[in-house]
Amino acid sequence: MKLLIRFRLNGRIVETAADPTVRLLDVIRDEFDLIGTKEGCGDGECGACSVLVNDLVQNSCLIPIGSIEDADVLTIEGFSNTKQYEILNECYSEAGGVQCGFCTPGMIMASAELLSKHPQASEIEIREGISGNLCRCTGYNMIVDALKLAAKKGEGLW
Ligand code: FES
Ligand code: FES
Repeated sequence: MKLLIRFRLNGRIVETAADPTVRLLDVIRDEFDLIGTKEGCGDGECGACSVLVNDLVQNSCLIPIGSIEDADVLTIEGFSNTKQYEILNECYSEAGGVQCGFCTPGMIMASAELLSKHPQASEIEIREGISGNLCRCTGYNMIVDALKLAAKKGEGLW
């Protein structure tokens, strides 16, 4: 049975008529064409599908759309209009934190949550903050460097 579900998506109120068990990941990709959010494992293990829901990083492959009523969902597309994104993007490039790029949208969303909670994040906090996001390419050190750089460059913004 389909229900009408209303929520905020990248700052805009939207509605979808969907089976409430359908995954948020499928709704944002297939219905709203926001394909920056990736599907990796489909099982809550890799973080490729990370989005912010009410400012908290979540695996959109695990979230039934029925639980999203009235929530605030931010995807990489919405976040990419912000100054914070610009800084993260620049620092990821500078530190070599983007290689194949598959994990990057999810990593960036996890980074955004991490720096908003810990603007001066320590290395331990950084590693913990991205621990739900897998990267097959970088060995993580370059991503950690990118986040250290972003904490410095974005001082006062996070
Ligand atoms: Fe959602 Fe891997 S696709 S955690
Ligand atoms: Fe390739 Fe992270 S850059 S998986």
